[in-house]
Amino acid sequence: MDKKTENTSPVRPFKLEEDERDMTLRPRNLSEFLGQKGMKENLSVFISTAKERGESLDHLFLIGPPGLGKTTLAQVVANELETGFVQTSAPALDKPKDLVGLLTNLKKGDVFFIDEIHRLKPAIEELLYIAMEDYGIDWVVGQGPMARTLRIAIKPFTLVGATTKAGVVSSPLISRFGITCRFSFYEQEDMESIVRRSAGLLEIKMEKDAVSLLAKSSRGTPRVVNRLLRRMRDFAQYSGEETITNKVVRNGLSRLEIDEMGLEKQDREILKIIIERYKGGPVGAETLAISIGESVETLEDYYEPYLIQAGLLQRTPRGRMVTNLSYGHLGIVPNLTADEEILLLNLFN
Ligand SMILES: Nc1ncnc2c1ncn2[C@@H]1O[C@H](COP(=O)(O)OP(=O)(O)O)[C@@H](O)[C@H]1O
Ligand SMILES: [Mg+2]
Repeated sequence: MDKKTENTSPVRPFKLEEDERDMTLRPRNLSEFLGQKGMKENLSVFISTAKERGESLDHLFLIGPPGLGKTTLAQVVANELETGFVQTSAPALDKPKDLVGLLTNLKKGDVFFIDEIHRLKPAIEELLYIAMEDYGIDWVVGQGPMARTLRIAIKPFTLVGATTKAGVVSSPLISRFGITCRFSFYEQEDMESIVRRSAGLLEIKMEKDAVSLLAKSSRGTPRVVNRLLRRMRDFAQYSGEETITNKVVRNGLSRLEIDEMGLEKQDREILKIIIERYKGGPVGAETLAISIGESVETLEDYYEPYLIQAGLLQRTPRGRMVTNLSYGHLGIVPNLTADEEILLLNLFN
């Protein structure tokens, strides 16, 4: 492979996270895919009925913050359908021919997964419309007055598109997906099941309350809990313990600066900056991102969804604001307005 094709290869994995290398933990079928009950039940109906009819499954749109299982679910769907799985991501699709190459190689019923689908280039997105709707590609050959459009047929397939930002996906694209799955942060009970499953697969022994503490401290996110489980294994091994005890987890989390709500140092920094520099908000996302030294994308995709769902942050039309809970969690006393101060004084007198 020469250097050029290597760099533009649309099937090159976009980035390898630790848990993506560790395939042992990745669920392979729907029964191993824990949590997200309602979504899973519906999907199971759509998969079995499509299989019964011998048709390809309708195109599937997966929405949710990072680490909740979008890539995993796409692969699970292919396994359940017993079809091939072809994976790419929008940033890797540079030229229309990159997409055409992948589409024309699909076999009947294959699952074609496009990650970060909100980042498709317009020319590529338009090609995709016809592929999704008519299983065809319009390809222009020749130039100027000699130019003709050829319709190339492709095999019926299932497009699975994943995004962390449903808000910026164009409506013509959204309208071509027949099924939408919205991921929510996992419930405590499901997080505990995930910890137990992962610990079992990695042959790690864990105390019961260590399981629940770890589950509680992992921001409702399977990727995070698997990563923390590995770190706890390191801490236990380092101190010569065979079992991950509650104490190991408590000490481990404190060494990693993760608090009892599962907030990382950077989460607390975000809240603190809004309180201390912007009087609790509102402050715009761009200003905030610069203040914490992260990209707007990381702020919006990774940090904010969890802070919002934990009730610590609000998105308003004028910007981000902390909630009363934030002051309580960080142990900061809010600055009172003159009126509030008088009110409080009257209360205590
Ligand atoms: N429902 C689930 N049950 C068990 N483990 C899960 C589940 N969803 C995700 N995981 C684990 O979390 C990791 C991250 O999931 P992934 O699919 O890569 O998230 P996303 O694509 O949404 O960023 C996976 O490698 C897998 O081990
Ligand atoms: Mg993914």
